[in-house]
Amino acid sequence: MKIIVSAPGKLMLFGEHGVVYGRPCIVTAVGQRMKATVELTEEPLFELKAPDVQVTNYKKAIEDCGVGEIPKGAKFVEVAVKNFLDKYPFGGGVKVETKSEFSSEFGFGSSSASTVCVIKALSELTGTKLSDKALFKLAYKTVLDIQGVASGFDVATAVYGGTLYYVTPGKVIEPLSIDSLPLIVGYSGVKADTVTLVNQVSKLAEKYPQVIENIYSQIEKLVEQAKVALLNKDWLTLGEIMNFNEGLLAILGVEGKKLSDMIYAARDAGAYGAKLSGAGGGDCMISLAPEESVKEVKAAITKAGGQVIDIEANVEGVRIENE
Ligand code: PMV
Repeated sequence: MKIIVSAPGKLMLFGEHGVVYGRPCIVTAVGQRMKATVELTEEPLFELKAPDVQVTNYKKAIEDCGVGEIPKGAKFVEVAVKNFLDKYPFGGGVKVETKSEFSSEFGFGSSSASTVCVIKALSELTGTKLSDKALFKLAYKTVLDIQGVASGFDVATAVYGGTLYYVTPGKVIEPLSIDSLPLIVGYSGVKADTVTLVNQVSKLAEKYPQVIENIYSQIEKLVEQAKVALLNKDWLTLGEIMNFNEGLLAILGVEGKKLSDMIYAARDAGAYGAKLSGAGGGDCMISLAPEESVKEVKAAITKAGGQVIDIEANVEGVRIENE
């Protein structure tokens, strides 16, 4: 029995960092997808091929899933299988092959998307038929088991798709009904280290608790206003909110020179606004611009050393591709 499941990547729109501490964020699902082909086998083995993250022909006894040294590229899928098995035991083995339509360097959430794909596939293959919420919970637990700290917004996006207003740990997962979002996306060429940056901000919060709490409160207010502007397709206001949000992220110390160059270049070229997306220090920046400036904004991002990535926002969540 074999199944192919796919889940979208994500881009954080507003509210990163604050979302780790119970504040809301807004995130959108992007058209570049992660695909997993999953098969139940007779031999009690866990087998994985994930060429995008340099895992080829990785094999171990299924009962050893999650035990011992796990190669970096295999962690999320292996722990996902372990967590599924712990909760919904079944006999035999599992063969997984993942293939991504985007580089794991972009920060589009490839780890969370592959985690969601594998749990969804196992849920279908074993007849467990998990609800979206149960799928979210098990995938989020998997990410927490590995990363220690994460708000789970990327897991929610992989499961539900669309554009979500999200409060950790899935306390609110509210789909925002929008039909378009003409985002301009620039990749910095630098990999963001989410865990290090979250820890860095948490150290800052130990030393300056009130200042950082205030920053999170301001970010929360911006997220609330962004939600309204998004539903009204008010790109100008959303651009302004991007600029405010970016300023607050700069105070948290996560902006980074390369992203900041790209963000300023986009603004100078006529964008309504621009900000980083995700943990900061690398990955991608996002921008909104009047239609007549889009070409100039893209050229400016490229000139600042970024790579413009064409994306479709607000796409469908996890889905079965065939059986
Ligand atoms: O680096 P990313 O794209 O996974 O985004 C991190 C966003 C944070 O709010 C900093 C962390 C989180 O888990 O929400």
